[in-house]
Amino acid sequence: MKFFLDTANLDQIREANDLGVLDGVTTNPSLMAKEGIRGEENIRNHYVEICRIVGGDVSAEVISTDFEGMVREGEVLADLDPHIVVKVPCIADGIKAIRHFTTKGIRTNCTLVFSPGQALLAAKAGATYVSPFVGRLDDISSDGIALVAQIVKMYSYYGYSTEVLAASIRTTQHIIQCLEVGADVATCPLSAIKGLLRHPLTDSGLATFLADYHKLNG
Ligand code: G3P
Repeated sequence: MKFFLDTANLDQIREANDLGVLDGVTTNPSLMAKEGIRGEENIRNHYVEICRIVGGDVSAEVISTDFEGMVREGEVLADLDPHIVVKVPCIADGIKAIRHFTTKGIRTNCTLVFSPGQALLAAKAGATYVSPFVGRLDDISSDGIALVAQIVKMYSYYGYSTEVLAASIRTTQHIIQCLEVGADVATCPLSAIKGLLRHPLTDSGLATFLADYHKLNG
């Protein structure tokens, strides 16, 4: 399973990249706003900066909600760097735009997906990635991981090449659940990735090994 970092924070992206396990980055307008990135040029420069750090796919989201606007924006974003994946919301014009981008060889991430039907339309339009939002479904007492599992099964059954990118991942346990159901990618906060490392038996075992070594070696 690939790991993407779900942030526009450059320090966090550098830290995850230095760990050597980062496969890409996803951003959205809220994450860009959180970093205080404003203005079209600054936003574009920030995407380029992220691409310089990461040697993998970087999702950059369009703001337009009409077909022509999405196409215009998406083509500019795709021109910034070969690693850019144009992120498009799962609405009617978005599906049309994904089809357009697919025919032009521009890779896409269909975002804000909350049902198997939406995931089906994304795959039929040729999306590179589909992003079911796990945490936001859990927030309303639904089952986000169950949706990821449904989409993985459906795509495998029909041989769709769209990769299932589990998004709105909030916890380390979400990542393990994504692994169990066969998600292609999980896009996570850095804290959830770092949580994978933690185990008290690792810490106590290491402390004992080092103490035993130092007893004899000073
Ligand atoms: O990748 C989508 C993600 O950023 C949404 O996460 O935690 O705002 O639901 P969240």
